[in-house]
Amino acid sequence: RPGLRPLIAGNWKMFHGGGTGLALAIDCTQIAQRVPHVDLVIAPPYTVLAACSHECEGKRVALAAQNIHSKDKGAFTGEVSGPMLVESGCTWAIIGHSERRQLFGETDASVAEKTAAALQFGLLPIVCVGETLAEREAGETLAVVGRQVRAFLDIILAGAGTDKAVAIAYEPVWAIGTGKNAGPAEAEEVHAAIRKWLTEKSAELAKRTRILYGGSVKPDNAKALLAEPNVDGALIGGASLDATSFGAIAEAA
Ligand code: G3P
Repeated sequence: RPGLRPLIAGNWKMFHGGGTGLALAIDCTQIAQRVPHVDLVIAPPYTVLAACSHECEGKRVALAAQNIHSKDKGAFTGEVSGPMLVESGCTWAIIGHSERRQLFGETDASVAEKTAAALQFGLLPIVCVGETLAEREAGETLAVVGRQVRAFLDIILAGAGTDKAVAIAYEPVWAIGTGKNAGPAEAEEVHAAIRKWLTEKSAELAKRTRILYGGSVKPDNAKALLAEPNVDGALIGGASLDATSFGAIAEAA
């Protein structure tokens, strides 16, 4: 898309929380040198965020949190707030990943609240949406994704002002960690719908919001997915855990 830099983000999930994470972050700074036209983001576990941020500073690799609490502080055992994430070097926050929706009780409402909090505390949200296999097979994909997107559209419209480039990640649940990616046309159909819903709110917001695809993105399928007109980047799980495959995907962008 003219004017939009590709965004390639690695969601490490609950992997690489120690020395191997630090080593991978350093490898990512080398990848960044090879792809000056790409925005690279990594989302390590909380335990290595600050150390990774130290390694990545000034080296074109941005840090994302994998989750955020909606309050700035308080008696919320085990939670981490936006200001703490900023202090740990994050500029992005992944919000509403399907694993959080499915395993940790997150809802459209909590995702909206967290999106507002991220923007309020100075983090750019990567908000995740996506249908399950049962929903796809029932022909409900666009209805489900539409409901999920509409739950936070007003929030990004209000919170992203006129300059913040937030991201939405379309991650069909059936494609996550399964080795079965959405085909480029399947992904594009949903991405185009998301762009349309954004445009209905604000043409200007639609132009600067990057819509990422996630779900079994690998070096051998990345190019075709990223060639679709409304696929502005990728959110990568398994293949981001290894510098060779993450680098190859970044190079495909
Ligand atoms: O957030 C990225 C993710 O859910 C996709 O995981 O392993 O299928 O690339 P994976």
